[in-house]
Amino acid sequence: MTDLGLPTLRSAGAHAGVGGARLVGVTGRPDTPLLVDRFGRVARDLRVSVTEKCSLRCTYCMPAEGLPPIARSELLTAAEIARLIGLGARDLGLREVRFTGGEPLMRHDLAEIVALSKAAAPGIRIALTTNGIGLDKRIGELVDAGLDRVNVSLDTVNRDHFAALTRRDRLPAVLAGIRAAADAGLTPLKVNAVMMRQTLAGAPELLAWALAEGVWLRFIEQMPLDADRTWLRDNMVTAEELLAVLRERFDLEEVGREDPSAPAEEWLVDGGPLTVGIIASVTRSFCADCDRTRITAEGTVRSCLFGDDETDLKQVLRGGGSDEELAALWRGAMWTKQAGHGMDAATFAPPTRTMGAIGG
Ligand code: 5AD
Ligand code: SF4
Repeated sequence: MTDLGLPTLRSAGAHAGVGGARLVGVTGRPDTPLLVDRFGRVARDLRVSVTEKCSLRCTYCMPAEGLPPIARSELLTAAEIARLIGLGARDLGLREVRFTGGEPLMRHDLAEIVALSKAAAPGIRIALTTNGIGLDKRIGELVDAGLDRVNVSLDTVNRDHFAALTRRDRLPAVLAGIRAAADAGLTPLKVNAVMMRQTLAGAPELLAWALAEGVWLRFIEQMPLDADRTWLRDNMVTAEELLAVLRERFDLEEVGREDPSAPAEEWLVDGGPLTVGIIASVTRSFCADCDRTRITAEGTVRSCLFGDDETDLKQVLRGGGSDEELAALWRGAMWTKQAGHGMDAATFAPPTRTMGAIGG
């Protein structure tokens, strides 16, 4: 049987370590404040999508015309986002929040979102996943607001390939953003590259660039989250195939994962000290160790990238709901989190919401 990397159902006793759990209610959810699920996982890491807009149109993510716009009144405000992060850190045990999009820099109030979130949850680590465009102009205000870490998405350092893949000729702007983030002291800076067939031959060049810049490169297997629905399991570049291409130029030695819930497996390059990460999201699924919870730009909780069931928090937020009500809804949403995506299984069906509308 293939190992799909999915967790198995646990009895409630599996949560005994998380707050002295005991069974309550009809659903079987243990009495713990944390975001536990039926598989013994605990969500500690929050992703908040702040917009559907983007300055690029990566073919594995967005349609050429962009996503249908979300009405401004439907987007969570900076204060609403900060309130959810505050209660998530205080009452639900969240330790890290990452702002995503679309492209989070498209929100002009991103620094305000960061500052209010830091004030509401002083102990939480705040990170950003961005395509880097305009980061050079915004990095100062973001760091002042309390931003701790940045991941920049960059799939190729070949300008023509970049323009074809993202449908925009903006490679120089991305490189300027990466340099500015590194200069601002946000190191080690992580760069994420989705592996695509048309950029595979350029992977060694991308790694050579990352080594020269001192940034931490991580390759990601392409997941079926593109708006155009062109993903084909048989055509995707696997981690194994990428390794073979990188090994034509580099000596790679496996060093394992940073920590069990980190999706990237690290490889020492040419004896070190720098490593390259490979996130085999499809061929070596890490759903069993998933510690993520997500909030969409419209204020719903999404427990899994691939699960279409969402729980609306915005209505309760705007209807004058208490923190306790919001926390209870969020806990309920996570308790029923699905086992995983099963992308490598024949029965796999992609979710309705695409990556541009979830944010990774
Ligand atoms: N598969 C894997 N990663 C993706 N991303 C966007 N679409 C996909 C996909 N289909 C990545 C972006 C960015 C992060 C938000 O998710 O490149 O690094
Ligand atoms: Fe924009 Fe990121 Fe999607 Fe590319 S992957 S279109 S940069 S949101």
